[in-house]
Amino acid sequence: MKIGIFDSGIGGLSVLKEVAHYMDRYDIYYLADRLNAPYGNKTKQEVYSYCEAIVNEFLSIDIDTILIACNSATAMAIDELRSNFPQIRFFGIEPFINVINLRPELISKRGVCLTTQLTADSNRFKYLQQKYDANHTLEYRTSKMLAKLIEEAFDSGRLDTHKIEEEIKSSVFTKSTKDSFDYIILGCTHYPFVSEVFEKVLGTTSISPCAHVAKHMASCLVNKLDETQEIRDYFYFRDTSKAATKEQWRIVKKENLKGFPFF
Ligand code: DGL
Repeated sequence: MKIGIFDSGIGGLSVLKEVAHYMDRYDIYYLADRLNAPYGNKTKQEVYSYCEAIVNEFLSIDIDTILIACNSATAMAIDELRSNFPQIRFFGIEPFINVINLRPELISKRGVCLTTQLTADSNRFKYLQQKYDANHTLEYRTSKMLAKLIEEAFDSGRLDTHKIEEEIKSSVFTKSTKDSFDYIILGCTHYPFVSEVFEKVLGTTSISPCAHVAKHMASCLVNKLDETQEIRDYFYFRDTSKAATKEQWRIVKKENLKGFPFF
């Protein structure tokens, strides 16, 4: 039972954490495409070609279930991947706009959704907005730098909270005096790692779909589950910017995901 998970970088580890919790008997392979990160400022064609190479790598190690743990890559590539790789079961992640319909307590509150520019410009995102937020309940913002700053923090081993706060402020606040929010929807998988910074800067709660995605995936794969398999306390990790060969998967203990920068 193998699952492949990927993102442009370490962002998708926020989803892996949940997947590892709900699907603890699976062998999870996480590929961080840091060589090509960030995806958020790339073209659709570029992102598709990165995803295609990753899918081929997963196929070469017999993985037939893949979670695209990246909003930008899901938006740009999941439809084409599904039609070009029918033998693979794909799951993706999208900004959790539908939360406004699922949590009645949010009805009277002001919410904002933050994504990369690529996600914001995508047809899938426009479709989500029409489907779940036809009355324009939410405000929408993009950030150019935040995912990159979080990647840099992973490299340096420390979060530059000041820079991150500044980027959040300049992305979320326009010049409007009406800019005050009760909650923020984190529409990029990098953002949950700095949810506390969001909450401090904006004075709001933050919402991410990671646990929902993992639960949904676990329920879809329930027939595949082999309960005789041992529970895994580790996963496999590969960083495309570091490993010299495709065989260099590193074993990482799941407990390392508790604190940033993890490992
Ligand atoms: N983590 C990714 C997402 O969810 C993208 C960040 C990036 O590479 O720009 O959109």
